[in-house]
Amino acid sequence: METLRHIVVFVHLIGFAVLFGAWVVEAVNRRYQLTRLMNVGLLIAGVAGLALAAPWGIDYDMNYAKIGTKLVVLVAIGALLGIGLGRQRKNGAVPPAIFWSIGILTALNAAIAVIWR
Ligand code: HEM
Repeated sequence: METLRHIVVFVHLIGFAVLFGAWVVEAVNRRYQLTRLMNVGLLIAGVAGLALAAPWGIDYDMNYAKIGTKLVVLVAIGALLGIGLGRQRKNGAVPPAIFWSIGILTALNAAIAVIWR
């Protein structure tokens, strides 16, 4: 069970890497576009995250305040991605506040994961 949990954490990290990596590529190349890959990364991180939100394969108490906070942040990222992709389809550009918020909130969720114990 413990090994299976570690594998799900690994999948969760792949989702984070895909979402954040896709965002960094756009930011560094100064394109500031949202891509389908960001949705894919969010979906992988979200599904694996929900699986990790249940207390299996561990022998310590889970921090539900932390997990709830991460879930709220994930929903916010999803909403921003949805709104941003809609605007992009209509106008060809994403409002800068939406683009930057997606990257910052993704980094925030990773920071919450590793710093809040
Ligand atoms: C964009 C969204 C997310 C990002 C970037 C993210 C990032 C991370 C990272 C980097 C870790 C590894 C931390 C470590 O092992 O020390 C982690 C672990 C974890 N995440 Fe997330 N996460 C996200 C969403 C979620 C969601 C929505 C949930 C649950 C509702 C969740 C639940 C967990 C749990 C329970 C762990 C600990 C796994 C364990 O040690 O057993 N995550 N997350």
